[in-house]
Amino acid sequence: MLTRLAAGGSAAYRAFRAEPRLPADYARLYLTRLYRKAPLGRSPLLELRRVRHPVPWDQGPGLIARAAGPWSDGPSVELARAATARASRDGDRSRAQRIARELAGDASLGELIYALVRATRPDAVIETGIATGVTSAFALAALEDNAHGALHSVDLPPGALVAGGLVGSGIPPTLRHRWRPRWGDARRLVPHVLEQTGGRRVFVHDSDHGYQAMRGELECAWRAFGSGDWIVADDVDLHDAFIDVASAHGAIPHLVAQKDKRSCTGLMRRG
Ligand SMILES: C[S@@+](CC[C@H](N)C(=O)[O-])C[C@H]1O[C@@H](n2cnc3c(N)ncnc32)[C@H](O)[C@@H]1O
Repeated sequence: MLTRLAAGGSAAYRAFRAEPRLPADYARLYLTRLYRKAPLGRSPLLELRRVRHPVPWDQGPGLIARAAGPWSDGPSVELARAATARASRDGDRSRAQRIARELAGDASLGELIYALVRATRPDAVIETGIATGVTSAFALAALEDNAHGALHSVDLPPGALVAGGLVGSGIPPTLRHRWRPRWGDARRLVPHVLEQTGGRRVFVHDSDHGYQAMRGELECAWRAFGSGDWIVADDVDLHDAFIDVASAHGAIPHLVAQKDKRSCTGLMRRG
């Protein structure tokens, strides 16, 4: 417990030094009351849902092969699977662990991201929303199996996860050398990260699931991306943000149900 607190404290200290605007990001989110609701996908900005008929989760990898190209499992995916399974077996001994479990991404979302990154071999994956790092671990496993590329992750993590040393704790240590985390509000940092990366890219939204935040991130990625780049979003069944971005740009929205959550992943390709 004490070791975890110390690890959390020193991680927080490093993050505040690296990102001087972090305190302002936390203050703004607390003040707008989005902070406690948005990570759970219950933003007050929800709008009417139009997402219908996703394909079942076990057809997701086949959908990726048809839409993005052939791919196969490499050795690193087992590391991500084992870390995710271990985390879901861990008991909820503390409040931080309960929050971590609530925030954790569905393993089937991780598998989809693995398949997409293997099939498209991007130079960079950009994701928002780390928590304990389910999607991060699968994206990093795919980059490792491609022997190419880096993962740029953005998060404004809950204080309880920071204090408990749980942020990114599910990412296997041997995959971390391709990981470039940034701490702060995604609305502020995503444009910078998109500016700093190039080549073939994949964007993954899994942070504030309010309509405005999701739509803002997806539009930002769409504008920065080139033909052949892919955009993925978790929980697109909460409202119409994903469908609205796809129809505004004439993209085909692919929708895949998740295995353990009653949620839906959206994928679209630019170009
Ligand atoms: C659903 S969790 C992410 C789950 C993670 N992708 C996984 O697979 O385990 C959402 C995360 O987004 C973060 N978040 C929420 N609003 C944010 C914002 N405006 N900017 C950056 N991160 C945010 C939360 O702190 C939380 O860590």
